[in-house]
Amino acid sequence: MPNTSRVVVWDLPTRLFHWTLAILILLQYGTAEWHWLSMRWHVWFGYATLALLLFRVIWGFAGSQTSRFGGFVRGPARVLGYVRDLAAQRARTGVGHNPLGGWSVLAMLACLLVQTVTGLFASNRRHTEFGPWADRVSQDWSRRLTEIHEINQNLLLVLIALHVAAILFYWIGKQDNLIGPMLHGHKEVASPPSLRFASSVRALCVLAFAALVVWLVVLAGSRI
Ligand code: HEM
Ligand code: HEM
Repeated sequence: MPNTSRVVVWDLPTRLFHWTLAILILLQYGTAEWHWLSMRWHVWFGYATLALLLFRVIWGFAGSQTSRFGGFVRGPARVLGYVRDLAAQRARTGVGHNPLGGWSVLAMLACLLVQTVTGLFASNRRHTEFGPWADRVSQDWSRRLTEIHEINQNLLLVLIALHVAAILFYWIGKQDNLIGPMLHGHKEVASPPSLRFASSVRALCVLAFAALVVWLVVLAGSRI
């Protein structure tokens, strides 16, 4: 491509987070809806998902510039301006999440957090499968949170469908392939910005901390 430079857009931790998350979510539906493995696995994959989400939330404050919430969450004026530019086919290709995409990322993270946290309290009708905190609250509350778990999984599916549709729209409609950068980290851009990246060692520490917190939460609920 003439007059463009290849720059790093996404750090390795964010990319690993994304594709591991996508695989885990597939496994969550596979175990809960299609009987791929026993529901015990659903709960275990759920713990892993919760740890990943906690990692991503912390990484949103302590990670690389393109992964920080402050780097991509924009106010309504910027979002509206971007939508207008998009409609008028004026929107420019940038690095990181665009102002609209930033909010879709927040919506997905919030929905995933609701799904995993309610899962901790969920229980099936015969109480043969249950999250570690299901017996720590009243049956009424466990039932309510299970209902939210059942309803919210539909909302999650809608958000994921919109997410994939948006990625395909940029690829086919705007010739902007966002998948490549999420895989290998690099993108060709006209005016390369100078970006700050956090080290992978820091990411490992954050991940270890997130896993420890989830382990303690599970342990506290299981009365072990
Ligand atoms: C269960 C399925 C999926 C979930 C829950 C999911 C969730 C997410 C999240 C949370 C982000 C933000 C990344 C971050 O900043 O940490 C993201 C970004 C992204 N996802 Fe997914 N994703 C899923 C499936 C997919 C699939 C199948 C594709 C490929 C078609 C894809 C392509 C992308 C791309 C290209 C980005 C970066 C978008 C940008 O440049 O702004 N995702 N996804
Ligand atoms: C993002 C992560 C998760 C997804 C996508 C997910 C998805 C689902 C789905 C689709 C169902 C079936 C709902 C229905 O019958 O309509 C379900 C049920 C269930 N999930 Fe999850 N789940 C997640 C996390 C968790 C976690 C973290 C736990 C526990 C630690 C958990 C525990 C359960 C239990 C006990 C049920 C059975 C409740 C019932 O029969 O309705 N889930 N989940």
